[in-house]
Amino acid sequence: MTALRHTDPELAGLLDAEVHDQNTTLAMVASASIADPSVLAAGGAALSNVTAEGYPGARYHPGAGNFDGVERLAVERAKRLFGAQYANVQPHSCSSANLAVLAALMPPGGTLLGLDLDAGGHLTHGSPASVSGRHYRAIAYGLDAYGRIDYARLADLAAEHRPTVLIAGASAYPRLLDFARFRAVADSVGAYLVADISHIAGLVATGEHPSPVDLAHITTTSTYKQLGGPRGGLILSGREHLTPGPDGRTPLARLMQGAVFPRSQGTPAPASIAAKARAFALAAQPEFAETTRRIVADAGALAGELSRLGHRVLTGGTDNHMVLIDLRSTGLTGVIAERALEECGILVNRNRIPGDTRKPLVTSGIRLGTNILAQRGLGPDRMRECAALLHRALAATTALSDTEYRIDSRARATLRAEVRALCARHPLPRAATATPVTPHADLLAEAALAPPDSTLATPTGARL
Ligand SMILES: Cc1ncc(COP(=O)(O)O)c(C=O)c1O
Repeated sequence: MTALRHTDPELAGLLDAEVHDQNTTLAMVASASIADPSVLAAGGAALSNVTAEGYPGARYHPGAGNFDGVERLAVERAKRLFGAQYANVQPHSCSSANLAVLAALMPPGGTLLGLDLDAGGHLTHGSPASVSGRHYRAIAYGLDAYGRIDYARLADLAAEHRPTVLIAGASAYPRLLDFARFRAVADSVGAYLVADISHIAGLVATGEHPSPVDLAHITTTSTYKQLGGPRGGLILSGREHLTPGPDGRTPLARLMQGAVFPRSQGTPAPASIAAKARAFALAAQPEFAETTRRIVADAGALAGELSRLGHRVLTGGTDNHMVLIDLRSTGLTGVIAERALEECGILVNRNRIPGDTRKPLVTSGIRLGTNILAQRGLGPDRMRECAALLHRALAATTALSDTEYRIDSRARATLRAEVRALCARHPLPRAATATPVTPHADLLAEAALAPPDSTLATPTGARL
């Protein structure tokens, strides 16, 4: 960063501004978390300069000795963290992991059964907006009247359509996934079960959510969400790793190796894999388990407080890190709530709710998550304060149309100041990445003499 501030101040300025924003906003985006500085450092390592297609010991380029060591480490740590027999750490994202897995398990036109996008499913689970919904015959299962996965209907749909692949996983579902039940449905029609734990991987790793690794044939996840790793994906397999693939011969583990490279990716991202290795090691530490316990406790407390304040919390609560709010009775849309809250320094994202009639860019709901609140050390006892900030910001907002709104400027200023103060009292667990390194020798000397809390000063000297 020192060199970058000299050579490219425009870019460095934007990167510094992001550090400042992260420090001073209350991020409740359910898919986000804060990566440890060591994860960010590994992700920016010179290892990135290595080009090496293939896998450790079988590369198509020279000079991959260190990278081989790093990738082996990442694979072993991923297996240990999740109790898996097989891991592939090369997918560039969970979306690409899902598409690689589907392509390996089914020919084009094969039948895929996944959770409906409006019910909380992910694009890659068969949405028509994704190739998963275009290249396969995608059938969607949904929710019951209480907003829970309708397992009985799922079994009926499986019996009727006989999918080759059943996906268990969600982007916006606040309740436990019953992987054993999914597996029973898959077995009833001879389908492969793919569990996508992208959102709940941290909870699965620490036992806060039951693990699918030995129940599903294949498990996929993002590494940057709850795992606090770099942008990227991961494929795992447990007890079923030697089960034959669709050709009746090739074990699933071998099938997955080829599915990622060469079938769907070229060169892996070596530094990203180093960052994954670091994140897996951190996720195995007791501190991480403690954070995941707090994530779940926080979400329950936040849901309770918001209900008490009169908000309609979908399913009446949560079992994981997510709280889904139906905004229809407030007169606000998802996009208005998202923007108004952002003006007050609170980040949540708009979210379609079951039966939503509004467009995906507008929506009738919002999705909250407690990963970063818990990382800030905010426990369930502080959720009353967080819920109140959210509630007051929404109450200060008036919708003028589905996308236009007015927010009371005094309320906004007060809330913004309160959010900053809360963030300052509970800083992100990574002050080191916010350390300004000024290029001027005189200021460097000054910084060396400054008290320790000066690490939170911006390059311009303002407090963060
Ligand atoms: C359940 C689920 N699967 C897959 C993805 C895609 O992950 P990525 O951003 O790593 O492609 C997401 C979220 O973005 C998700 O929620």
